[in-house]
Amino acid sequence: MAASGLASRFVYSVYVNVNMSTHTTRLIDARSPSDRADAAQQAAGILDAGGIVGLGTETVYGLAGDAANGEAVARIYAAKGRPRFNPLIIHVLDLAMARREARFPEAAERLAAAFWPGPLTLVLPARDNCSASALARAGHDSIAIRRPGGFMADVIAALGRPLVAPSANRSGHVSATTAADVLADLGGRIDAVVDSGGTDVGVESTILDLTGPVPCLLRPGGIAREALEAHLGMRLATAAQAPAAPKAPGMLSSHYAPRAGVRLNATEIRPGEAYLGFGGQVPEGPAPIAAIDLSPEKNLIEAAARLFQALRRLDETGARSIAVAPIPDHGLGEAINDRLERAAAPRPAAE
Ligand code: TXA
Ligand code: MG
Repeated sequence: MAASGLASRFVYSVYVNVNMSTHTTRLIDARSPSDRADAAQQAAGILDAGGIVGLGTETVYGLAGDAANGEAVARIYAAKGRPRFNPLIIHVLDLAMARREARFPEAAERLAAAFWPGPLTLVLPARDNCSASALARAGHDSIAIRRPGGFMADVIAALGRPLVAPSANRSGHVSATTAADVLADLGGRIDAVVDSGGTDVGVESTILDLTGPVPCLLRPGGIAREALEAHLGMRLATAAQAPAAPKAPGMLSSHYAPRAGVRLNATEIRPGEAYLGFGGQVPEGPAPIAAIDLSPEKNLIEAAARLFQALRRLDETGARSIAVAPIPDHGLGEAINDRLERAAAPRPAAE
């Protein structure tokens, strides 16, 4: 007991205090193209005043704040219950804005030209005079930076300066791909959510560290490893294979977790389980209490786009566990399997 008490005190000490006063979260509608410009202006106004707002990108919804405003950044950590040692991605409008924050080695220039705007985050040496608050960088001298697509790009244009944005979910929980899912996790803790519809890619950006001698894949994501390797003409190191390489501090083993347990590579259903399928596979055993096939056509891009929605919907059935079909590990399958492995990992007692 003493040991577990110590462990939970340690876990508590690295989490920010989440005793926040609750207030009303505004829902701003930007689903119709005619509402987008006005919604972007409203969101930029709230952000300019130090507010924090859920905004859609092409990957998942982000919880955005003014990167230069330390108080807004602190509120993001508190609203998510995110450990403060875990730095945030800086979201920029274009390469010019990115170059003011970070130094771009030649490989970074080439990748940004090929893949931005898009689901690729580059970890680069931060400039001494970068605008991002020290808290957002969690004390690192590198900076994670990306140029997003989707509605968030309109808001950065309206605001005229960078936004920090972690995924808009409670820390450790499944990421949100709709405004309703953002509200379910963060309603009453943030100033507003803009509903710009569902997100296209469905999993977070790929994170590539370019601060070392070899490009290192810190997080598989919306751009497949194979596409980056083809573009750079070299194999990427992987954080797990290269113990000396820096890791993304946020890649704690339990993450993306629904309430239900998660059981991987399932070919049979056990009593009380829901089923997350792929490619029309039919599991053995009793009928699941609910089932969603991520892509009957075996399309990994479609499967990634539906992953977090499917986990949230199956979790809502109250199933004791979610049995997950085997999913191929190439292309976006690497990101899907990464998220599922973390969803299935043992959970810390304090969460
Ligand atoms: O698609 C995405 O990337 C979404 C959307 C909203 O842009 N954002 C997102 O943020 O997934 P978040 O905070 O959930 O994940 C960011 C990851 C964390 O694992 C964090 O540790 C890592 O990026 N990271 C941030 N700054 C870093 C740095 N300087 N070096 C290494 N890893 C870093
Ligand atoms: Mg996240």
